[in-house]
Amino acid sequence: MDPDFDKVLGRSPNYSFKWRRYHGRDIVPCWVADSEFATPAPVRQALTDLSQHGALGYLYPDQYEQGAQAVIDWLQYRHGLKIPPEWVVWTPGVVPAFNITCRALTEPGQALVVQTPNYPPILSAHQNHQLQGLQVGLVGAEQQLDFERLEQHLGRDDCRAMILCNPMNPNGKVIAKADLQRLGQMCEANGVVLISDEIHSDLILEPGLVHTPAFGLDELRDNSITLMSAGKTFNIAGLGVSFAIIPNAGLRKRYKAAANGVSPWANMLGLVATATAFNDGRDWYRRQLNYLRANRDYLIAALNQIGGLKAASPEATYLAWIDCSGLGQEDVQTWFERRGVGPSPGRDFGAPQFARINFACPRRQLETIVARCSN
Ligand SMILES: Cc1ncc(COP(=O)(O)O)c(C=O)c1O
Repeated sequence: MDPDFDKVLGRSPNYSFKWRRYHGRDIVPCWVADSEFATPAPVRQALTDLSQHGALGYLYPDQYEQGAQAVIDWLQYRHGLKIPPEWVVWTPGVVPAFNITCRALTEPGQALVVQTPNYPPILSAHQNHQLQGLQVGLVGAEQQLDFERLEQHLGRDDCRAMILCNPMNPNGKVIAKADLQRLGQMCEANGVVLISDEIHSDLILEPGLVHTPAFGLDELRDNSITLMSAGKTFNIAGLGVSFAIIPNAGLRKRYKAAANGVSPWANMLGLVATATAFNDGRDWYRRQLNYLRANRDYLIAALNQIGGLKAASPEATYLAWIDCSGLGQEDVQTWFERRGVGPSPGRDFGAPQFARINFACPRRQLETIVARCSN
């Protein structure tokens, strides 16, 4: 194993959202999608240097040129794609960014398409903007996007936007390039902008599998807003910084106009942490992927040994999506909590008979989770 990832940090003193839910109870939390790993040493050092300097006044993100350069270099390293700096738009988190995008692109009463199952703030985004939420599920043994349903929804006159989560949260599925191209063609033909939440795209666990960013496809270049972040990958989500890749100048202008005055600038700590992680965290990143792969394989094998539980191996993310219908329990969450395990309830993702376990934790903690589920 790897000492960087075996170390138990003890997060309660940091007011970790994940740990506060079960504070004072003997329940191991494995719900919120952040990791239990210390961010890489160069990131910690950069944050220390910044605070030691002492001046934490305004920093206008577009003037922090090394930040955009770090994103450009990272995208080249990860996807072999070279983009110009003006495509990078700093955002104060992916959730605010997809909400701002909805605000930029839609009028109340119109339709917003989302695929299911999905991350709860994506499922509920339509409510924030008085839109009609139209869901598209997955079909067939391959669990592909339901293109028939997409055709119906995207073809509506009142449909201007769709939010996609790729790789998918909660099931860790990576959308195939051909499917994304087909979706892109449909969006293009219908004047729909794809809001592509790719926050988990650096966490591809399946060897040989490649993530295709929306902005990298001809079919989507001019009608997509790709949302990315170092938050999950480098465990700096609490710093509230992410970025959008918006190739089309008109869309960029609309995004910025909708953000103006309601969205804070991306903050200095998060910007510096993101740039440092992308520039100096690559070795740590590769080692983390190996650790996560081993955790995934251990957890999935163990869960499938437990009567009533079934879990497919996620291609990406550090989240295991578990079908608990075999337990015969109406309230799956209580089944876990009684055993001292606190997953994300499947009902929050639109699937009450499922639970989601975050396995980005020291192996010892994962072993405790497995032992408790086995009891
Ligand atoms: C798909 C997805 N999008 C967005 C977020 C949150 O992004 P942020 O913290 O940058 O708002 C999460 C966190 O779990 C997520 O899983």
